[in-house]
Amino acid sequence: MTKTREKVINILIDNSDKYISGEYMSDILGLSRASVWKHIKALKTEGFDIESKAGHGYRLHRKEKMGLSSYEIKHQLKTSYMGQEVYYFESIDSTNIYANTIANQTPEGAVVVSKKQTQGKGRSGKIWVSDYDQGIYFSTILKPSIPISRASFLTQVAGAALATSLEKLGVACQIKWPNDLVLNGKKIAGILTEMRAEIESISYIIVGIGINIGPKTFDGAISNVATSLANEGYQIQDLNLLRTFFIDFEDLYEDFKNKDYTRILGILKDKSAVLGKEIYLIRDGQKDKVFAENIDEYGNLIVRNELGFLEEIFTGEISIRGLDSYI
Ligand code: BTN
Repeated sequence: MTKTREKVINILIDNSDKYISGEYMSDILGLSRASVWKHIKALKTEGFDIESKAGHGYRLHRKEKMGLSSYEIKHQLKTSYMGQEVYYFESIDSTNIYANTIANQTPEGAVVVSKKQTQGKGRSGKIWVSDYDQGIYFSTILKPSIPISRASFLTQVAGAALATSLEKLGVACQIKWPNDLVLNGKKIAGILTEMRAEIESISYIIVGIGINIGPKTFDGAISNVATSLANEGYQIQDLNLLRTFFIDFEDLYEDFKNKDYTRILGILKDKSAVLGKEIYLIRDGQKDKVFAENIDEYGNLIVRNELGFLEEIFTGEISIRGLDSYI
């Protein structure tokens, strides 16, 4: 979309509670009335619901649910870079896959958002079911100058930000180390962090997040471990959640880049679903009962094993289960 068209839609978004005349628009944009009309026509074909009423002007009817465009997402978004460049899709294979193809040409903080994914990727090669109207699926492109060993902690920075955003919207969820958000003991969101790196330096990192928002039926055993915000009684608007998240994530990501982990660790510990509990660690087909004691500055989980020794658990191919539930 051209800069002028972006200005036209921004005026309509700002004034969507009333009609605004073509004359007013042409005055503030320095365009002819015919040119304003041309942009309005083009915006309509892009899917914007713009009413033209003789003697009144134009009025944008904003949809209840997100789906309008990248412009709604970034409109007056109070961040410096997170979410300031948005690639929005109604459907895509995977936002992480797409983010990988554009990462070299996009600035830090660019995001790919989709209402549906046909090949949503989960951790450990699993599929992330990403149906339309049941969730929101997005990936942020990050380019931090950090050692490779620090990169996996970004998953937890994103988790801390998402938990903070949900809390602002009235949802008290917990973080199941290292990368799941849980509500009432079941998973509502997952995070998949992928990295492109040369031998010593990171080219970019993609943090992909899937959140179960709408009503959703989970089949078989999954119904014991997964849920959605709507299933738990929360009506959260995806647009609102996304915008809040970009603000919270930029805030904590700045701390992370400045090596200030105090707030991040505070949130991770405060909202942890595992700290202070006996849990099972499942790795290489083995299940060990441990006590979860702490999370260190690298995001490692510090556990006490049954022999009484402390162990440092790195994120990776490891799962955690509660003693008699998902968590
Ligand atoms: C997990 O297994 O818990 C991680 C799930 C991550 C899913 C998100 S949805 C947006 C992004 N694109 C993908 O293909 N996967 C991530």
